[in-house]
Amino acid sequence: MSPVVFNIESVSTCSRLRKHETSIYVAILLIRILLQHNNTNKMPLRSGKCRSNARLTGKTAIVTGCNTGIGKETVMDFYKRGGKVIMACRSVDKAQAAKIDIEKLCKDLPNTGKIVVEKCDLSSLTSVRQFAKKVLDTEPQINILVNNAGVMMCPKGETEDGFETQFGTNHLAHFLLTLLLLPRIRNSTPARIVTVSSVAHERNAINFNDVNYKNRPYGASEAYSQSKIANILFSRELATKLKANNIQGINTYSLHPGVIKTELLRHVDDTFFWGARTAMNVFVGPFMKSPESGAQTTIYCAVDELCANETGLYYSDCVVKKAAPTARNDADAKKLWDLSVELVKLGDYNPFTANDPGVKSVGQ
Ligand SMILES: NC(=O)c1ccc[n+]([C@@H]2O[C@H](COP(=O)([O-])OP(=O)(O)OC[C@H]3O[C@@H](n4cnc5c(N)ncnc54)[C@H](OP(=O)(O)O)[C@@H]3O)[C@@H](O)[C@H]2O)c1
Repeated sequence: MSPVVFNIESVSTCSRLRKHETSIYVAILLIRILLQHNNTNKMPLRSGKCRSNARLTGKTAIVTGCNTGIGKETVMDFYKRGGKVIMACRSVDKAQAAKIDIEKLCKDLPNTGKIVVEKCDLSSLTSVRQFAKKVLDTEPQINILVNNAGVMMCPKGETEDGFETQFGTNHLAHFLLTLLLLPRIRNSTPARIVTVSSVAHERNAINFNDVNYKNRPYGASEAYSQSKIANILFSRELATKLKANNIQGINTYSLHPGVIKTELLRHVDDTFFWGARTAMNVFVGPFMKSPESGAQTTIYCAVDELCANETGLYYSDCVVKKAAPTARNDADAKKLWDLSVELVKLGDYNPFTANDPGVKSVGQ
């Protein structure tokens, strides 16, 4: 019996050690990202600001996953600019609370817009399809789509449709949502599609043989990285395909928002060890951006006149940046596109030629 007990203890000690090693690795990584970010930008950490005064009066924007973090700041900015903003969130209650909070914060400002809350759970393609249908049925135009929602370094899990949680939520759901809305976006030009990625894309590559970790050991950080490469490749390929289909007036942007104090670390205690989130916040927290500052590059890409003639590029701190080679590979971008079409079961639907289904009744 004793060898068995010994083995079990060894395994559990090893797995504990591996968890600690991974957390130390993640903490070092976050510090490296911060330092790298500072060096490459040659400016203070809390930098990069959208200085445009562009108004969004009469325009409609959709922001996914925006009840908190940089998504909520993005909604508030668009609202201040006079736009109608649709909050696409998985928790309607949390989104309603965020809407009330934003309206309260902006109550003394003139010419604000309108905020509408809609349910959209990106871990379910059925929910994405239902949300898209509701929007297409009720919104005459969609001028800005911000694919913001994200989940990071969660324990191994699957979406409702059987995809690895981060790949399914961060990439596939946004892929489907964007393509379902494209016929309306094509009729709402000038329009912009902004996809929030991360500098974490630089760490790994997409494993096309097993994007969903069915036949290889799961790595929480690696899977996050894979999903964030996918965000950039999708944005690039969408720009390429829009051009190839001779569609003008829709620009695409992907971006790294910075390292920001938000709720994104919410899963690290479950993935690594209890206290990992606190430890990271203590060591890296003082160097992180505020959510307001972290939303600037998204807002820049969505509204600023300075990038109105750019498409398919990757940004950080409100300037164009060179993404890692894995995220600039055109063959991989096409491969990912084809794979995504298959995984979300788009069938014969062609978003570049499909007719706009038309509004059934104008929404709230
Ligand atoms: N914070 C950073 O340092 C950092 C760095 C690089 C990139 N980013 C990227 O920035 C984006 C926003 O992150 P954040 O920092 O603002 O994090 P956050 O505070 O955790 O916000 C993430 C948002 O995504 C939503 N979300 C998660 N899963 C969802 C699902 N299945 N369906 C719909 N919504 C879902 C969350 O909703 P719930 O509240 O309901 O969970 C939340 O509203 C993400 O794409 C992230 O990868 C962040």
